[in-house]
Amino acid sequence: MKSFYITTAIDYANGKPHLGHAYEKVLTDVVARFRRLMGDDVYFLTGLDEHGQKVQQSAQARGIEPIELCDEAAEDFKGLCANLNVSNDDYIRTTEDRHKDVVRSILQKLYDQGDIYKADYHGYYSRRAEQFLQEKDKDENGEWPEIFGDVEEITESNYFFKLSQHQDWLVEHLKTNETFIFPRFRTKQVLEFLKEPINDLCISRPKERLEWGIPLPFDEDYVTYVWFDALVNYVSAIGYGTDGFEDRWPVDFHVIGKDILVPPHAVYWPIMLKAAGIALPKSLLVHGWWLKSGAKMSKSTGTVIDPLDLVDLYGSDAFRYFVMREMNVGQDSEFSEERYLVRYNSDLANDLGNLLSRVLTMLNRGLGGVIPSPEVEEELETELWKLWNKTREETLELYSGFQFHTGLEKAFHFIGSINRYAEQRAPWKLAKSEVEADKKLLNTTLFVMAEALRLAVGLVEPVMPETKEKVYTLLGYESDAEWESRLVRTEDLAGNIVGGKTILFPKPQTDS
Ligand code: ME8
Ligand code: MG
Repeated sequence: MKSFYITTAIDYANGKPHLGHAYEKVLTDVVARFRRLMGDDVYFLTGLDEHGQKVQQSAQARGIEPIELCDEAAEDFKGLCANLNVSNDDYIRTTEDRHKDVVRSILQKLYDQGDIYKADYHGYYSRRAEQFLQEKDKDENGEWPEIFGDVEEITESNYFFKLSQHQDWLVEHLKTNETFIFPRFRTKQVLEFLKEPINDLCISRPKERLEWGIPLPFDEDYVTYVWFDALVNYVSAIGYGTDGFEDRWPVDFHVIGKDILVPPHAVYWPIMLKAAGIALPKSLLVHGWWLKSGAKMSKSTGTVIDPLDLVDLYGSDAFRYFVMREMNVGQDSEFSEERYLVRYNSDLANDLGNLLSRVLTMLNRGLGGVIPSPEVEEELETELWKLWNKTREETLELYSGFQFHTGLEKAFHFIGSINRYAEQRAPWKLAKSEVEADKKLLNTTLFVMAEALRLAVGLVEPVMPETKEKVYTLLGYESDAEWESRLVRTEDLAGNIVGGKTILFPKPQTDS
């Protein structure tokens, strides 16, 4: 069986991990965990983009070697993955030999085929953006936009990859493959870009200007343009050129942010693959930006939130829940700490956390910690189970369509309904009654609360794997069964001994 192969973008080594990086890892991890739970053989790749001018300059400024800077970054970014409980199968660094070898072999192949040629280039170059500019890149006043920094006029010989001849089939591919880009509306952006004839892509940088890169195999005086280098990570990591490659390729999803769709992932990458005789990606999953007060968080505007702080304060599941609950994949989302706290307190600490506390407290107080068997089923129970069946079905459907925010909304609506059920049954009152019928109802109520909780945490497992594990353990529940059968109501919990009182989502310790 071919595996379900999913990747994130590889992060620039020249910067610290931020919320945008953290979100992309979590989103990809949630998809990966969901598919794994659905029975797919998932292969999940993430990594680090280490070459290029900015890394060279930053290293120089600090008086260290570029590789030292990259090693530090690799530790930071891998630490981010670990803190976020990201289940990647591999981590690719573009300075690894396994990567460099593949970049060079693909370049050589394209060169031998005549897809790469040398030409003189005269024009404008932005060091900050690491790209050549054209007149059309100027703003309405005829000035170079701020984002390009100081623009230099240069003449140099470089190598170019023939892109222009690929325009027609690419347009056709985008128009006919409805699932190539998710969300679909972003396809328009690509087609807009392809309305104009595209230029061939300069894929080299002379060594005197940039040393920190992969030398071209056919001319060692040049290194490879970072984007040409970076994109290849998706195939180098899974052993392009070896036997196992086709077990994973073509990739099912490249998860990327909207800023790197056009042109790198939607234009350069498909053309590079096509020219090299490699199958195209099945889909690009394009997410929006996390914004703060309307601006994109970035190193240059200085409005970076360190996601690790939030993860340390509230735990990885809380962070994962927040970003997945708040962001409609594909749209932008505003980040605010207040909102984070509201979600944490109301959804996690109150709705979910208190439900668990209630269940454990009631069971330990009156029933020696043993989950009773349900003894009756009345309308309140029937209604709750009906709601469960509907919730499960709808949530799985929403997860499949990347509608995690609404999937979680449904799941947490169900959790709220368990609490409302508990309030209606009022087991704390039933526990004081000597009437036989009330005892039966008490047993039923506590069983139902425990079982509904087990089902609910199972449903949010792709997003909150740690919570599911903790709650399963506290309910004395262990199962090797497939996910979907774990999401079906049983009476297996009856007779289990539960753990002691546990606060799932405690109030964080703060300094103030
Ligand atoms: O672009 N909100 O690296 P990168 C959401 N090395 N996502 C964001 C974001 C934000 N505020 N800021 C960045 C690169 N991202 C290249 C990729 S892939 C072959 C090479 C996302 O570190 C961004 O969209 O600048 C991208 O998908 C990822 O973080 C890495 O960004
Ligand atoms: Mg970026």
